[in-house]
Amino acid sequence: HRTADEAAYGIAHRAEEAAPPVDPAPPWALLAELSHGCPLRCAYCSNPVELIGRSDELTAEHWSDIFRQAADLGVVQTHLSGGEPLLRRDLPAVVAAADAAAVHTQLVTSGVGLNERRLAALTAAGLRSVQLSVQHADPAASEHIAGARSFAAKERAAHLVTAAGLPLGLNVVLHRANLDALDAIVELGLAWGASRIELANTQFYGWALRNRDALLPSRAQIAAARARLEHWRPLLAGRLELVWVVPDYVDGVAKPCMGGWGALSLTVAPDGRVYPCPAAAALPGLDAPNVRDHSLEWIWRESPAFTLYRGESWMREPCRSCELRGRDFGGCRCQAYALTGDAARTDPVCSRSPDHALVRALVDRAAEREAVSAAPQYAYREGP
Ligand code: FES
Repeated sequence: HRTADEAAYGIAHRAEEAAPPVDPAPPWALLAELSHGCPLRCAYCSNPVELIGRSDELTAEHWSDIFRQAADLGVVQTHLSGGEPLLRRDLPAVVAAADAAAVHTQLVTSGVGLNERRLAALTAAGLRSVQLSVQHADPAASEHIAGARSFAAKERAAHLVTAAGLPLGLNVVLHRANLDALDAIVELGLAWGASRIELANTQFYGWALRNRDALLPSRAQIAAARARLEHWRPLLAGRLELVWVVPDYVDGVAKPCMGGWGALSLTVAPDGRVYPCPAAAALPGLDAPNVRDHSLEWIWRESPAFTLYRGESWMREPCRSCELRGRDFGGCRCQAYALTGDAARTDPVCSRSPDHALVRALVDRAAEREAVSAAPQYAYREGP
């Protein structure tokens, strides 16, 4: 996770065509958080600080109904995520339900718990692709970031996935302890047979906000990593796609978070609550609707949670009159809340925001600290 994921960033152009709030365009993707349980304890976890307990999780039957409703609404793909979706023994039934609804399935996993037998069951159920999280190319550094022994399992998982003929993507959350290893990470992707690497600079909400000082890179680190990215891109064209999720704190540019609020995708939490983004559980008063009580169609089209920041009518200055508002949608609501306590303000990462000095000060401080610490002290995440 996350991270907040590629649906949020890669297809932002679709959002420019988004319909007015009363009659929104159909959602495109559904992030299915099957469980908040996870064998890893990553410092950058973007799941909410309050995790949902295992006993509150939706059943496979619930998920089957959700995928049918999602397909009727227009959803074409689902990311089966968490936490760690492999913790669900009934995962093949969940995959089969999405496939039966003609929704394309991608498993987003740490790789821990994947073996030949389980992958065969998932493939038979209709799994179409796998996104594997990678913390670093060096096993010891990787396990320090993840807070758990996991590198060998990831390597095994990558081989199983490519041997099964499924497309493999790597999802690498970038921060000060791994940005300098970008070359090694790309080489790892090549060695493991990945067709895509998402280089996702850490987004600071959820648990990651707690570790911001340990994770936030310096401007010089970002500049050096960008130069390596530009070195690799032409060399790998047509072979390995490199996706760069922007470091918005450092760039001073608001990202079109989720392609706009309630514009492209839905996130269904393990307990059935539905959010416009994976971090929105932290927003006070959002009153997220639950699929156990409401249809997905009502949730998408009419629920207060989805209409609150949809379109432009909620915007204040400087967004309201900004020529970029149709492109960045005022940035990220969760970040505005995390930094200012008010989710309706302009995202402070934007250099035009009246609160931007907050972010600049944080990045300045990151530059003053030592460029890279071999073993930063993290507050590790613990499971629900
Ligand atoms: Fe950006 Fe919630 S994570 S709006």
